[in-house]
Amino acid sequence: MKKVLTYGTFDLLHVGHINLLRRASELGDYLVVGISTDEFNIKKGKKSIYTFNERKTILESIKYVNEIIAETTWEQKVNDVKKHSIDIFVIGDDWTGKFDFLKEYCEVIYLARTPDISTTETKENIKKP
Ligand code: CTP
Repeated sequence: MKKVLTYGTFDLLHVGHINLLRRASELGDYLVVGISTDEFNIKKGKKSIYTFNERKTILESIKYVNEIIAETTWEQKVNDVKKHSIDIFVIGDDWTGKFDFLKEYCEVIYLARTPDISTTETKENIKKP
């Protein structure tokens, strides 16, 4: 069984997230998603609208997702790849090159982001009169 791993905040779930999850799941047989905890988001300078548990509940209901884990630190990735016997690490190409160190442990693929949509942009659009 080919296992795929990705990480993200996935706040205010949008079509860019769904495209990423679908394409990640198509690369293998089992998709593990690491969701950033609220505490880790604060360290990354992000404040999500939905809590970790809410984002987890939403992502669990997506047919492309098989398992959710918590992302609590930058350093956990090598351990997660080993612990979950991951074959492919996938993330959007806004991160190109940043996780090449994982190539020692699994395949690393950067997928093109869906254009013109992000959680940040959605939040700004909602605020506009
Ligand atoms: N992603 C994507 N296409 C988009 C937006 C996000 O492929 N239009 C991908 C990211 O590259 C990442 C995953 O979805 O692999 C989770 O991204 P996340 O940071 O949670 O979403 P963003 O919409 O980019 O959030 P923000 O605006 O807060 O950075």
